[in-house]
Amino acid sequence: MLVQDVIVEESPGSLARRAAALFAATAEESVLRRGRFVAALAGGSTPREAYGLLARPPLSRAVRWGKTFLFWGDERCVAADDPRSSFGAARDGFLKDVALTDAHLNRIRGELGAEAAARDYEERMARFFGLGGGEVPSFDLAFLGVGADGHTASLFPGDAALEELKRLAVPVERPPPDVDRVTLTLPVLNGARLVVFLVTGGEKADVVKGILGGETPHLPAARVKPGSGRLLWLLDRAAAAQLGEG
Ligand code: 6PG
Repeated sequence: MLVQDVIVEESPGSLARRAAALFAATAEESVLRRGRFVAALAGGSTPREAYGLLARPPLSRAVRWGKTFLFWGDERCVAADDPRSSFGAARDGFLKDVALTDAHLNRIRGELGAEAAARDYEERMARFFGLGGGEVPSFDLAFLGVGADGHTASLFPGDAALEELKRLAVPVERPPPDVDRVTLTLPVLNGARLVVFLVTGGEKADVVKGILGGETPHLPAARVKPGSGRLLWLLDRAAAAQLGEG
């Protein structure tokens, strides 16, 4: 049964501290239970402060980086050095400061082009998780963001990627000035043990209210409901502003 929680933090700063602490606690529990911690990271600007905290004491010392493996929820089809690359942002923002070797970093190789990068990423997941046909990975943690339009990862409202039930990752065409992307599919996100949405800012208040109030069940972010996992919406006060008191 799906367990859904909503936590409202006072500010983007306290949300970042909560998110980083959650990452570290989930890592510890996963290593204890299964010997490793496998997380899918979100792109976008919201998680950046939390990522920065993971690279500094005390959290940098609390996480067992040698047993931590990172994937990404989505990526833009650009080289890793391009400022639009989610992997590049994470590398510059914190990965360069923690003891993670390349073997632990499972980035989406956007520079291959969307279809080839999606296939490459699917193969990487299948190998890493030892998946048979039809099986989906079980990430210990997936961080996600949400756009004001209700998109999450690179699952956009009305896009065919949203209806994909078989593939683990798919290409997503985007109109300029955006660039094509690769995204994990809903079955993969919904296979995670813990999904955490990180949402800040008043411009997200309406979409948060629609999703958490059950008014917009068709939106991509509303369709993330990890069947046997836990779903947490971590909001700052501004993003939670339209939610009722009860
Ligand atoms: C990305 C993600 C996207 C993101 C949301 C929220 O941009 O890399 O694909 O889903 O998480 O657009 O972005 P912000 O955190 O920048 O608001």
